[in-house]
Amino acid sequence: RRSWAEPYKIKVVEPLKMTTRAEREQAIATAGYNTFLLRSEDVYIDLLTDSGTSAMSDYQWAGMMLGDEAYAGSKNFYNLEENIQKYYGYRHIVPTHQGRGAENILSQILIKPGDYIPGNMYFTTTRLHQELAGGTFVDVIIDEAHDAESLHPFKGNVDLQKLIDLIERVGAERIPYISVAGTVNMAGGQPISMANLREVHQLAQTHGIRIILDATRAVENAYFIQQREEDYSNQAIATILHEFCSYTDGCTMSGKKDALVNIGGWLALNDYNLYEEARNLIVIYEGLHTYGGMAGRDMEAMARGIEESVKDDHIRARIGQVEYLGQKLLDWGIPIVVPIGGHAIYLDAKRFLEQIPQEEFPAQRLAAELYLEAGIRAMERGIVSAGRSKETGDNYYPELELVRLTIPRRVYTQAHMDLTAEAVEEVYYNRDRLRGLKMIYEPKYLRFFQARFELL
Ligand code: F0G
Repeated sequence: RRSWAEPYKIKVVEPLKMTTRAEREQAIATAGYNTFLLRSEDVYIDLLTDSGTSAMSDYQWAGMMLGDEAYAGSKNFYNLEENIQKYYGYRHIVPTHQGRGAENILSQILIKPGDYIPGNMYFTTTRLHQELAGGTFVDVIIDEAHDAESLHPFKGNVDLQKLIDLIERVGAERIPYISVAGTVNMAGGQPISMANLREVHQLAQTHGIRIILDATRAVENAYFIQQREEDYSNQAIATILHEFCSYTDGCTMSGKKDALVNIGGWLALNDYNLYEEARNLIVIYEGLHTYGGMAGRDMEAMARGIEESVKDDHIRARIGQVEYLGQKLLDWGIPIVVPIGGHAIYLDAKRFLEQIPQEEFPAQRLAAELYLEAGIRAMERGIVSAGRSKETGDNYYPELELVRLTIPRRVYTQAHMDLTAEAVEEVYYNRDRLRGLKMIYEPKYLRFFQARFELL
């Protein structure tokens, strides 16, 4: 058969509110043309993020009723720990309220002022925690990752020469760890290959440098390895994930993505001494080391979500839905980042709105326009997200100026994808009349979340 269909059926539904164009004009102006500041109620199809927005299964909801809400030693923690050890293969686990909680602890333990942290492209919260701990992030991703049109199958790969150059320039002792993400969010949800990670591992071992994985979407990465990399096409996702993690010394994790829950995360470390330090810090920032900011029921839902996330039919349907939307847009000649990534379609705002210069926030403007057109909420991933240099205070001007249409897991139907594609096409057709934006309020940290704009 040529078609696939979702490996689940719908048991509970949540009605959506339809709005008029006039209502949306009012709402987006009130939100300062920032989709983060819209009320969810005013959104029809919410593609802001795939973070914490997944639909849980009946098996997960059943687990919620089995929450052991003891302050210490909840049995749900042990279930979670066991599943992380089983599927991700790490030895020691510290639960956290979400991914950035783990990033905070990790950065505090490992980074000293003056250190450098190489990584396959920055992620907003990850880089900020590295900087707050006194480190400097260094991008060592392959050049193709910064080119929206490059068809490289593994645009998340590390450029080994860039890594070697950094080691030679600053010395291995100034590099506490290499920060590897699979898949790479800011590059368009692009994967890193097993072969590349294995090479990074070998290089790191020679120099005695750790590798810490951002495992947020590592299951999705495993799917691309299965589909695109020689020798893996017959391996199960769970097997690939386990091998992938085995080349790293620990991970930070936002369970809100792959692990199919609304809240939760963890820090995993193979080194017992580091784990002990993490366990000491966790009680200051997150909670006891057997709950880390989560309720018992949340840990149970995540333990069960991990089991479901590594099932081959789940991940095929999940990424298949993203590909369905992306292929439609490609067929209609709309500029998107290729190859199609794992969790989202990224509209290339530089080519979409050629008339708007980057300092007038083309991606921010495009995201606002999609909302106006059809009540679809997307997210800017361009100059606003990139922020300012911590040294000079100047704006970063990233090569990629993107709008992310992020697909929540198991939430929307194919008809929602069709409607989304048609709305994008309509905006594309009328793109010439759009002008840029002016930023009128800029927060100090992670400005994209709360910045406000005016129409030019
Ligand atoms: N790492 C990656 C690759 C992420 O995408 C995120 C979150 C985090 C870390 C932080 O995790 O949100 O649980 O604290 N990304 C969300 C997004 C916010 O929309 O892409 P968190």
